[in-house]
Amino acid sequence: MLVEKNVPLQHCNSFGIAARAHTLVRVRGEDDIRDFLAHPLWGRQPAFVLGGGSNVVLTGDVEPVVLKMEISGMRLLHETERHWIVEAGAGERWHDLVAWTLAQGYAGLENMALIPGTVGAAPVQNIGAYGLELQDRFDSLDAVDLASGELFTLGAAQCAFGYRDSVFKHAPAERNAVMRARVAGRPPRGLGLAGRAVITRVRLALPKDWKPDLGYLDLQRKQTEAGIKSPTARQIFDWVCAIRRAKLPDPEKIGNAGSFFKNPTVTPEQCSDIIAREPKIVHYPMDDGTVKLAAGWLIDACGWKGKTMGRAGVYDKQALVLVNRGNRHSLDGSVTGGEVMTLAQAIQTSVYERFGIRLEPEPVVV
Ligand code: EPU
Repeated sequence: MLVEKNVPLQHCNSFGIAARAHTLVRVRGEDDIRDFLAHPLWGRQPAFVLGGGSNVVLTGDVEPVVLKMEISGMRLLHETERHWIVEAGAGERWHDLVAWTLAQGYAGLENMALIPGTVGAAPVQNIGAYGLELQDRFDSLDAVDLASGELFTLGAAQCAFGYRDSVFKHAPAERNAVMRARVAGRPPRGLGLAGRAVITRVRLALPKDWKPDLGYLDLQRKQTEAGIKSPTARQIFDWVCAIRRAKLPDPEKIGNAGSFFKNPTVTPEQCSDIIAREPKIVHYPMDDGTVKLAAGWLIDACGWKGKTMGRAGVYDKQALVLVNRGNRHSLDGSVTGGEVMTLAQAIQTSVYERFGIRLEPEPVVV
């Protein structure tokens, strides 16, 4: 187990915020987590799990012990009649896994190309883009219980995936329920696992009878431009990369955490009400009867696109993305977590005042 003190985190978070970890443990395998938990001093401290740092806002130095996930490896585990089952270590970059699976001839992740972050973070917020979410390709995952050090496996139902949501985003239920689960010898199923478990490996089921998913308007445009009737997974991968590069800032140059707010859902009645006042509002009816509104449109309509407050700003090509207008590589010239949150709150207030809708931040604020 590698323990480091006073570690700069500026290059471990995609905003480029210059915070430090008081203590950082590099996790290269499940044993590192067990060694950490068994350690007489560190084992009793609260822990914070850091993957690629692409979905966090650090508002100061991190006091809990940072478990930096660096478990590597990508392999074909086995195949079933209908799927290739691929397994990857939590520390692999998500995009590298997408590219690797395609290079091996397993299609199915191409719509989720270029999503920043690690494989281990992907199930936490059920990442998604261009009509596909992680849950559509999910098989199972391994995680370590931070209380007992035990390794357990969860299937899709136990992960309770939702829109940018899973069991890993919710606080644990009361202790008794956790204890009952443990006494019964099963993982604490159905309970919130935020701060309680670390994902170590993820397995995906990639379909052998793959079909392109081109439901998303931007992809249809690319298809028309290219004049290709039946694109390959590789072509879709290239289109998704091109769309994302045109619309989203490269975090290596302009620090950001992807979409800063979730797209809010409202009831059909609330939606008709808003449409009566704002006929142009971008909205998508969902399968469950609710209506999803484009948060980027709401923020844009309030005039925020391209605006700056302190060293935090709203990206000029996509209002849903907050960016670092300082120097993301400089210690004292970079944006602070406080500046990001001040801007986020100002946006939330103006969207609420105009539309009566509360925007919910997507990244984890530490
Ligand atoms: N829009 C505006 N102004 C803006 C931004 C967007 O009017 O400044 C309008 C667009 O014209 C479009 C609609 O809002 O009609 C939706 O925008 P877009 O297609 O860019 O997608 P999004 O809803 O903003 C979501 C995900 C992205 C994902 C894309 C593509 C969320 C919160 N965001 O963005 O995910 O890449 O769809 O599937 O669900 C992320 O989670 O970090 C992320 C980047």
